[in-house]
Amino acid sequence: MTKTLYLKTYGCQMNAYDSARMADVLASRGYTATAAAEDADLVLLNTCHIREKAAEKVYSELGRMRALAPARRRRGRDTRIAVAGCVAQAEGEEMRRRAPFVDLVVGPQSYDRLGELLDGLDAGPTVATEFPAVPKFDRLPAPFRSGPSAYLTVQEGCDKFCTFCVVPYTRGAEASRPVAQVVDEAARLAQLGARELTLLGQNVNAYHGALPDGGRESLAGLLSRLSQLPGIERLRYTTSHPLDMDAELAAAHRELPKLMPFLHLPAQSGSDRVLAAMNRRHTADDYRRVVGTVREARPDIAISGDFIVGFPGETDADFRDTLRLVEDIGYASAYSFRYSPRPGTPAAELPTVATEVAVARLAELQALLEGQAGTFNRAMIGRTAAVLLERRGRRNGQLTGRSPWMQAVHVDAPDSLLGELVPVAFAAATANSLSGRVARVPADAA
Ligand code: SAH
Ligand code: SF4
Ligand code: F3S
Repeated sequence: MTKTLYLKTYGCQMNAYDSARMADVLASRGYTATAAAEDADLVLLNTCHIREKAAEKVYSELGRMRALAPARRRRGRDTRIAVAGCVAQAEGEEMRRRAPFVDLVVGPQSYDRLGELLDGLDAGPTVATEFPAVPKFDRLPAPFRSGPSAYLTVQEGCDKFCTFCVVPYTRGAEASRPVAQVVDEAARLAQLGARELTLLGQNVNAYHGALPDGGRESLAGLLSRLSQLPGIERLRYTTSHPLDMDAELAAAHRELPKLMPFLHLPAQSGSDRVLAAMNRRHTADDYRRVVGTVREARPDIAISGDFIVGFPGETDADFRDTLRLVEDIGYASAYSFRYSPRPGTPAAELPTVATEVAVARLAELQALLEGQAGTFNRAMIGRTAAVLLERRGRRNGQLTGRSPWMQAVHVDAPDSLLGELVPVAFAAATANSLSGRVARVPADAA
């Protein structure tokens, strides 16, 4: 019997990947997607715990979902409500106390058992948040659909324990998938139509996957193997930690033509005092040096980052150090956030910076970053570069894709070019995107 699934995803790319894999598990059990929660047999929220706002969104969404099951029961149908992801992992039983109508709470390491867990619900609600001995990746089915650009999780968890961050608690210890498993999945995605792969991990450049001979492969080595796969034309990876950004990976940016010139490298702060309090284990100058090494290997590389302002104890001088780092690096794009105390993390015990101070600092930092993004994008006007057209744009007759430097690009183009890599001449730019026209239609799509 076919059943319907309403799946909503919050948070990072790893959650997007996990949602796709959960949808695969559920499709093999007869579930098809619906956009209407009121008609769904299964409502599945894949949640994020990274900042307070992210976690609270889940409870307000659940508040809206509360009436669903009783309403459908009146129509003679059952609705199950399941919560997955990092809030599920962090709260476990507590989530069932706050939202007793939730049938299943399932943590990120148990998605391979999703089918069995749903079957078990006839016997009552379930909380599955243990960290199992057998990695879920050994048991998840192979993907069976893909867009032109696909995510592939190669590493999960984190052992760095930055003092502000929940990830080591919600995703567990750092673990890398074996090389053969990654290559098989990549080949499968290529067969399904993927032309670009983004390798994912909370600390993706700490990747050290097992080889069949008992050795270990680095991320640079893995990228080199994947760049030999037929059909794969572009490779990316995210998110990297500055400490694990080694010379081999920098060199890969020179040596692998398929490795795109983009690096997301969170800095968090430009103050050594704050970096130490965050337990980042590097200084601002270390970060400058790492970026320098990567730029030497690939001078046109676009650098992106993450910043936290208003970390406990951050003074105005510390914040000026952050602005100075941003000016020194020159970011192509960046995310910046106001510090959000997370229960259970060491920094949550520390006295916080006044809200209005943190708000003002964030606005100042964002204005600087936005200016840099605008400058970076405007420098592309008049140039032509390959764009992978991934999806329809907002306007009719428009397609949207990414430049090699990860910029969103909008072009007027027919649907027949969906999934194609086409040269685009850039004509206009904002801080968020480029637009242009197709310079030449590739022979295989003409
Ligand atoms: N593994 C990545 C980041 C994962 S979380 C890294 O090491 O950088 C994504 C981003 O969310 C972080 O880079 C950080 O900027 C932000 N973030 C994490 N915890 C936060 C918190 N408690 N408050 C505000 N921002 C936070
Ligand atoms: Fe969180 Fe730090 Fe690990 Fe990144 S490196 S996931 S910020 S603990
Ligand atoms: Fe959020 Fe978990 Fe990703 S907390 S950012 S969904 S790893």
